[in-house]
Parts: sequence; structure tokens; C-alpha cells
Amino acid sequence: MSDNTVHLTFLPAGKTVEGVVGDSIMDLALAAGIHINASCGGSGTCGQCKVKVESGAVQGGYHPKLTPEEIRQGQRLACTAQVHGDSVVEILASSEVDHTAIERGRTGQGGRALQEMELRNLIQGLTIDPTVFKAHLRLTPPDKDDALPDLDRLLLALKREHGFHPVSADFRAVRQLGPILRSSDWEVTATLAFLGDRYKLIQVEAGDTVQENYAIVVDIGTTTLAAQLLDLKECQVVDCADDCPDDCNTLAGTSRYNPQISYGEDVINRILQAIKPHGLETMQKVVVDGINEMVEQLLIRSGVARERISHMVVAGNSTMSQIFLGLDPRSIREAPYVTAVSTVPVVGAKELGIHLGDHVHVWSFPLVASWVGGDIVAGVLGSGIWQRDETTLFIDVGTNGEIVLGNREWLVTTSCSAGPAFEGGGIVCGMRAAKGAIEDVWINPETFDVNLGVIGRRKPRGICGSGLIAAVAELFEKGVVEPNGKYREELDTPRLRGSEHGGREFVLAWGSETETGEDVFLTETDLDNLIRTKAAIYAGCKVLMESVGLGFADVEQVIIAGGFGQALDLEKSVAIGLLPPLPTDRFLFVGNGALLGARFVSFSREMHAEAENVARMMTHVDLADNTAFMDQYVAAMFLPHTDAREFEARLQKTAA
Ligand code: FES
Repeated sequence: MSDNTVHLTFLPAGKTVEGVVGDSIMDLALAAGIHINASCGGSGTCGQCKVKVESGAVQGGYHPKLTPEEIRQGQRLACTAQVHGDSVVEILASSEVDHTAIERGRTGQGGRALQEMELRNLIQGLTIDPTVFKAHLRLTPPDKDDALPDLDRLLLALKREHGFHPVSADFRAVRQLGPILRSSDWEVTATLAFLGDRYKLIQVEAGDTVQENYAIVVDIGTTTLAAQLLDLKECQVVDCADDCPDDCNTLAGTSRYNPQISYGEDVINRILQAIKPHGLETMQKVVVDGINEMVEQLLIRSGVARERISHMVVAGNSTMSQIFLGLDPRSIREAPYVTAVSTVPVVGAKELGIHLGDHVHVWSFPLVASWVGGDIVAGVLGSGIWQRDETTLFIDVGTNGEIVLGNREWLVTTSCSAGPAFEGGGIVCGMRAAKGAIEDVWINPETFDVNLGVIGRRKPRGICGSGLIAAVAELFEKGVVEPNGKYREELDTPRLRGSEHGGREFVLAWGSETETGEDVFLTETDLDNLIRTKAAIYAGCKVLMESVGLGFADVEQVIIAGGFGQALDLEKSVAIGLLPPLPTDRFLFVGNGALLGARFVSFSREMHAEAENVARMMTHVDLADNTAFMDQYVAAMFLPHTDAREFEARLQKTAA
């Protein structure tokens, strides 16, 4: 053992990890598989990675975001504090990556949430015909009069009995063939992948396993990973087994934070990490580890055997897709901002480190541009806007806002940086949508008393994106905030006070009411951050429409996709000018668009073939250096907008 060796124990998990003198607490946490909030990717600027040093020798880790009292208690930043001897640190609740949020399953309010069958009906002529399927065969054993080789015998039977021709064979399947045919008494099941003009034999199993054919679909989001297990025979999501150990009582879906969060909250930080020496390998491994955990959980919850998984479909934004595939993402953030691929070649799951059989291949949705990836292609495909006559606006809001406009004849798309406000970033009391996050706010216009909706029905400890929209909408509608995002001077309420962060702040919850014992408030800088975010999305929609000579009145339907979209309150989003002022019956929520498209592609060869056509149909409008976007952005920097006519009906309603 080297003299330089140190041990660091993390509480409350009680996990100890070995490192060398000078390692940062963050590095050791990552080595231990412990994830700490790190919006800035460990550059020491966000202040979210607070830990408390209980004992030992830790140096550094000071930051202006730590108050003198916190420093006296032993709090330090994990990313800049170095370990110089065996130590014990506690990860504070505010720094823990909480997994509860992404499983809360709330749906958007105001619009209509579409159910699976309605979604299937949206796609005209959706034929249920999986790309990867199985065929049962009873072969005649060879004899002296019939000495066909094993593979030829199998291919001939596939042609004669099922009409599958021509079929090429994966060598891994050929290698298994002889022993399996003989040990199974010549009764086997062949797994085939449809490749458009031919078939490929990817696996041979003993006996009849036709009824057991499954796929896993994965959405690789910057913040969240989500996956579902699909039954390719029944073409539906697999339900939990009766003896599901999690007793979760849901369809066999799972989600978790993308473990890359510990390397930075947004895609830029992830790219910066990935281009460091060995960074790409690390980032790829981290996300694959997260996917493997989900695979494990799906198999356990459903009782489906690993070897019965035949296929995997993945949808992610361009950066997430490239890192997952091990493709260097640096060109995404360097002019002229191109992706490594548009159509992604199919790759073996094993080759990527996914714990599935040798025969399983991963198919990824095509990428449109640096900032419009496969998740958006999947959402557009799944929501059927590429097939319909109605002009539809498709909005997927996350750390980026991706927008698509069009119909069966044309599609235009763009992406604007929404910033971290909707993920609780850049907001003094902001947090992700986890337990204790304020997600709804109601304000009494006379007394300014506040009622709060809190995730997990517990005391609040911060405010998440949907809470932020609700709070700003309420503050604006109840006359506490001016259209310019400043608090009204003359209001007489102790909730409104000067802020040490500059300007004024409004207290949503007093310290006596919160989990942390500290006030939860919104500063004018927070309001400004939210206004910038909503202005970017609104301006993106406007520019996209103007690029094809249309206005909001021409939009017949608005589809809201994405996890955050599921928590959006339409009325409040329109009230602050985040969404266009259209009748609520034009809004539809489709939930996770990436998983929706991935399901359809798994169930239907036709959809599989259409995915690339849809990606090709999408003309990208670049907002970088776009003066029209800047004009629209500045015009939208008011609540709800500088052009009152846009929101006239809404303003009249507010005044009434
Ligand atoms: Fe430590 Fe941001 S300050 S991760």
C-alpha cells in the first residue's frame, strides 16, 4: 500500500473508498458510484455540491456560496475540497441526487393527455409488425440422401415455411447453430431482423420461444434516463410480474437521473468532460452503467429472462447519443456545429457494454443537427405530425427547448437554449423536481398569504421548474410583479423584502415552515432568469413560424412532449408568455416523446423505415447569429410580452 493512500467514508451511505492524497471529494464520490449534484461539472461555480466534513483531513472547498456559519459547521464544496488523510464526510440532503422526482408521474394540466391507443390511432396505417421477430421451425435431420449443411437447411425452412427470403446470417448465430440443432432434436426458434429488402438471422434458440420476444427502449436525456420493456409479440409495454419485488404496480418502466449529472448539468459541460483525456470512455461508461441498472430493474420487475430480449432502441439528443455510442462529441460545440453521424449505424449491445445477449443490436434514432437529436425525431414520429394535414407545433422543453413545426408536407425545426431555470438551476432556492420541491403556488391577492403544492406532500426545501412557472404566474396575476419582472414597490407585506442577492425578493415559505429551517424565496434575479428562459422558447416558436410565413393563429394543434411538459400548467405557462396564447383545447400532452417513438419503431417495420424519412423532412433553422431571433427574444423579455395584442384575451381575463 502506498503512503499516499487515503480512505474517505461517505455518510449516510456508510460507503468507504480508497484514493490518494490530493484527490477531490467529488472524484472519490464518483469512484464510489455516489452521485452528488454538480451543475457546473465540478468547476467550483454552482455551489451545489456541498458536503459536511465530519472528521479527518480535508483541505480547501471554500466558496462565497458557503455562509460563515456553514463553513464553521464544516461544510465544503466536494469538487474543490481535497482529501489529505482518512476522513469522513456527510453528503447533505441538498446535494444528493434524489431519484424520487422522475417517478412522480404527474401529467400536464390544462391540455389533454393522450393515451397509448389514441397515440397509435394518430398514426395512419400503423401496422403492427415488429422489426425483430421470431419464427418456430421443425427441421428434418440430415441423412445420406439429404446432406444440406445446417445453415442452408435452416434458411431453406425459413423460406419454405414462412416465406422469409433472402436471409443473411450473423456469424454469432451460425457459430451456435450446430450444437443447438442437435441438442434440441431439430426444433428451434430463429430470431430475425427485418432490414428493408432482406432479413438477417441474429439468433437461434432451442425449442419454441416465439411467445417470448422482447425489446427494451431507452430515452437518454441530459437529466433523466428512462426505459421500458416491450413485448414484441403482443406489441405492448410489459406489465410488472405479480411477484414484482418492487411492488411498484406500474407498467414495467423505469427512470433515473442520468448519472452523468455528476459531471455537469448541461450538454456543454458533458462535452467539455468528454473531450478531456479518457473523458469519453468515462462518460460513456457512466451512462451505460445507468442503462444497465435500468435493464436489471426491468428484468427483475417483469420476470422476463435476459436471453429473451431481442432488440434495443435508443433515442437521445445529439450529444447524449454520441457519448452513448462512444463518438467524440466535440464537433457539436465547435463551428460549424455538426454531428458525427445523421443515420446511426446499428451496433451490438455488448460492444457498447450493455448487459444483454450477443445477438442484441442497438438501433438509435437519426440525428437532425447538433441541437436537434434523435429524441425529437422520435417524438415527431410518434406523435404523427409528419402524416397529418393540420399544422402542428411540437415543443419539447428541457434544458434545451426543441421546437418543430409542420405537417405532412413540410417540417421545420429549431432549438434554443432554455437554460437551467426549469431544472431549478440558476435560481437561489431552486432544486430539481424531487421530494420537497414546491411545484404549485397560490397567492391570496388581499393578504398575500401563500399556499404551496409540494412534491411528496412534505415541508418545502426549494422550488422546481413547474413551481417557478406557477409562482411567477401567480405573482404576476396577483399584481406582486410588474411586467418588467420587478416587484411592485408599494406593496405592504413582510414577504417582500430587500435581498442580499440584489434587488428584492418574495418569501414563498418562512424558515419555520421549511424542511431546512431556511426561508424559500424568489429574487428579482430569479425572475429575470425565468423571463430569459421563457423568452427564448417563445422567440424560438415565433422565428420558426415566421420562417414559413405563419403566425400562431395558423397553428391548429400544439403538442407538448418531455418530462417537464408533463408537469406544465398550461394556463400559467400562457400567463407568463412561455407558451402561445391559444385555446387550451389545441394543446395535447404526449408524455415522453422519445419513448413513444421508440415503442412505435419497435412495433412496426413501417415506422422503423419512416424514422429516417422524418429526420430528412426536418429542415433545421439555426438561431445562432439570427437577428430575427434576437428581436423576438428582446420583445418577449416582459410578462407576458411587450406586444400586448398577442396576449390580449389573456390580459383581459387577468384584469377581470
Ligand atoms: Fe462543485 Fe459546482 S461547485 S460541482
